[in-house]
Amino acid sequence: MKALIAAGGHATRLRPITWTTNKHLIPLANKPMLWHVIDKIVAAGIKDIIVNVNPGEVDSMSKAFGDGSNWGDVKISYLEQLGGARGVAHVVANAKEHLEGHRFLFFLGDNIILGSINKFVERFENESLDCMLAFSRVKDPQRFGVPEFNADGSLRRILEKPCDPPSDFAVTGIYLYNEDYFRAFDAIKPSSRGEYEISDINTWYIEQGRKVGYEEITGWWKDTGTPDALIEGNALIMDSLDRDSFKVEGDVEEGAQLHGLVSIGPGTKVSADCLIRGPVTIGANCVLSGAYVGPYTSIGDGVTIRDTEVEHSVIFGGATIDTTERIATSLIGLNATLVDARRTHPKSAHRLIVGDNSFVEL
Ligand code: DAU
Repeated sequence: MKALIAAGGHATRLRPITWTTNKHLIPLANKPMLWHVIDKIVAAGIKDIIVNVNPGEVDSMSKAFGDGSNWGDVKISYLEQLGGARGVAHVVANAKEHLEGHRFLFFLGDNIILGSINKFVERFENESLDCMLAFSRVKDPQRFGVPEFNADGSLRRILEKPCDPPSDFAVTGIYLYNEDYFRAFDAIKPSSRGEYEISDINTWYIEQGRKVGYEEITGWWKDTGTPDALIEGNALIMDSLDRDSFKVEGDVEEGAQLHGLVSIGPGTKVSADCLIRGPVTIGANCVLSGAYVGPYTSIGDGVTIRDTEVEHSVIFGGATIDTTERIATSLIGLNATLVDARRTHPKSAHRLIVGDNSFVEL
């Protein structure tokens, strides 16, 4: 079986981070978001993976994930979404030449699921289903594809972001399809928002009487679409890592306190006056002095943290944080600098150089 991952789109709600970084490259527990998705797909035994990217992004994405050899006997290829982001269903249509005649897994790259996808793939194969969907109970179904059921519990159709949701389930971004996908795509039209909707494909399968299976999954988290959700996703992924993935490789001075699960990359220096309470992942070549790093913090490579308390945050590579304030539940972008206002005049003023669409809480 092949797998296609959607890793294009514009992720406007994550600006300014996504002005320069494709959302799927945002680090969660110090690995790009998509890395965790590929882990799940490979664990389900799929070795031929196609990653759909925006035009012009093949280089940056292939630099991050390579040709699959990071995962052993796995092949990863990259495909530009011609014509740009025209909807989730269009991602598959764009990959027709690679998927036609195959049964395949389609995975939305911004969906982080806890636990394995193996049982979905197995059920799809063992029961020779034509389409398999994964549902999750959510508080805000109007933001998702939502299943509508008949009185006997069978599926009637899937509605995309309905104002008045017929159930409290979301259709998650993990789909399995048979060879009929491209017939379905030919039958659907763009929605009122101008996108080819995956929900219309799923409804086609149901209305055509195809064998559509579904499972409810628990413990999934989607929508890395907002900063809060990303920070929450970072924490959930950290909780799901096994103990062996936390390694101290850097140089930790005697006296520094490391509590719980802490990972420190090579070349990183942690001075004696630091306190780190895991789960925390710190990348390579960082410098920490007089720092407190609290639970659920993920720090990229080449970061400096001086005299600052940081927790429950994602700090991208190259950032410098040198302020006596406490930073919590924050996303700090690549090479960003935070300094202490009291070191310069006027001392009570905040001096900001803030990019477009930034969010600052003072
Ligand atoms: O996450 C589950 C939901 O995903 C489903 O419940 C919805 O039915 C489905 O339409 C989709 O809704 P979203 O509004 O969350 O889709 P979004 O535009 O965020 O895109 C989902 C992923 O696909 C994301 O990783 C970006 C990628 N994408 C999106 C578009 C529109 C592409 O690669 N190309 C595209 O053209």
